[in-house]
Amino acid sequence: MGHERQNWTAAPWSDAEVLECAMVIPETADCATFAFRAPSGAWFDYQPGQFLTLELPVPGGPLMRTYTISSSPSRPLSISVTVKAQPGSIGTRWMLDHLKPGMRIKAHGPAGVFSSLRHPAEKYLFISAGSGITPMMAMTTWAWDSGAMPDITFVHAARKPSDIIFKQRLEGFAARVPGLQLCFTVEEVEPFSVWYGYRGRLSQIMLGLMAPDYLEREVFCCGPAPFMQAVRDMLVSLGYDMARYHEESFAAPQPEEVQVEVHEPASVSEVTFAGSGTSVACDGTETVLAVAKRAGLNIPSSCNFGLCGTCKVKKISGEVAMVHNGGISDDEIAEGIILACCARPQGTVVLDL
Ligand SMILES: Cc1cc2nc3c(=O)[nH]c(=O)nc-3n(C[C@H](O)[C@H](O)[C@H](O)COP(=O)(O)OP(=O)(O)OC[C@H]3O[C@@H](n4cnc5c(N)ncnc54)[C@H](O)[C@@H]3O)c2cc1C
Ligand code: FES
Repeated sequence: MGHERQNWTAAPWSDAEVLECAMVIPETADCATFAFRAPSGAWFDYQPGQFLTLELPVPGGPLMRTYTISSSPSRPLSISVTVKAQPGSIGTRWMLDHLKPGMRIKAHGPAGVFSSLRHPAEKYLFISAGSGITPMMAMTTWAWDSGAMPDITFVHAARKPSDIIFKQRLEGFAARVPGLQLCFTVEEVEPFSVWYGYRGRLSQIMLGLMAPDYLEREVFCCGPAPFMQAVRDMLVSLGYDMARYHEESFAAPQPEEVQVEVHEPASVSEVTFAGSGTSVACDGTETVLAVAKRAGLNIPSSCNFGLCGTCKVKKISGEVAMVHNGGISDDEIAEGIILACCARPQGTVVLDL
């Protein structure tokens, strides 16, 4: 697809259609933005802050990976994700090394509830660390494009200045409106470059300097689990109304944070996979995903903590204990759908699989 005008379709993109990679934009070391278009010319409708789950054709079978949409629905002709590979990464590393313009991949979504659109407010405080900046970028672009003067204090923590994703784009926005305050803090500075921002880990004193009116702001937070825990602790001790605090986790909560009420672990549980006729005995602590894997059945999964919705399966009968993180609606639960990654069989369960 060149620079010619595309014939856009009336209907927005749905995940029945593959995405075609249109651009790869290097951001920082081991981080790039991938922009996609729909081959049919469909446009993209979603809420800023929502995510997509991509089916990555890595050797050995597809791998599902969930990424926040870093673009804004105010620019609906393409959709982007910005991915950062950590050491040992498989899926994200595959994207950085192999995903090129013209290639097509399957994607599922958009999904997720972490969006400023769901919590309208006069003033926002966005707090992020590392790749947790992606939803903040989407929500800031949305605020900018909506035409109203934004009032956003944008706090971001990175290891070093060159790790700050979207720094120049954000500075471009902030230089033109008084209502977008950028506050960056880094753990270490780099030789032969000047750094005027904050130094050190985000602290309560720093937060007070960055956003003196934090009590009036709706807070959105995204970053590694210990970072978000530190932010929560800071806000609680500052007397912030936590009903106005929203966070997105990119990884499973620490085991001690997960509290599942299960029946006494006993040999009474059994899962029957109706499609294959296989029955597997289990106790009440194992997830349906793990039981299926033991039975040699592959249920596609990505986040593994009940957020992305990739592992939905239909339950025909029986009870499960399920503590999810928003990856399934009440209506779906009422229809008998479960999230295999966080549903634990309680007694005899029959699945449509
Ligand atoms: C809602 C949501 C939004 C997200 N948004 C973004 C985003 O915008 N940008 C982004 O970059 N990421 C985002 N993520 C995270 C992303 O989905 C992946 O979890 C992350 O990139 C890691 O996947 P990977 O393929 O790179 O690494 P993986 O291959 O899954 O590895 C993850 C880590 O586990 C280790 N590991 C891998 N295999 C093993 C093994 N067998 N044994 C022990 N350790 C192992 C690796 O060392 C690596 O550090 C998001 C996640 C969620 C749930
Ligand atoms: S794998 Fe994400 S909800 Fe189960």
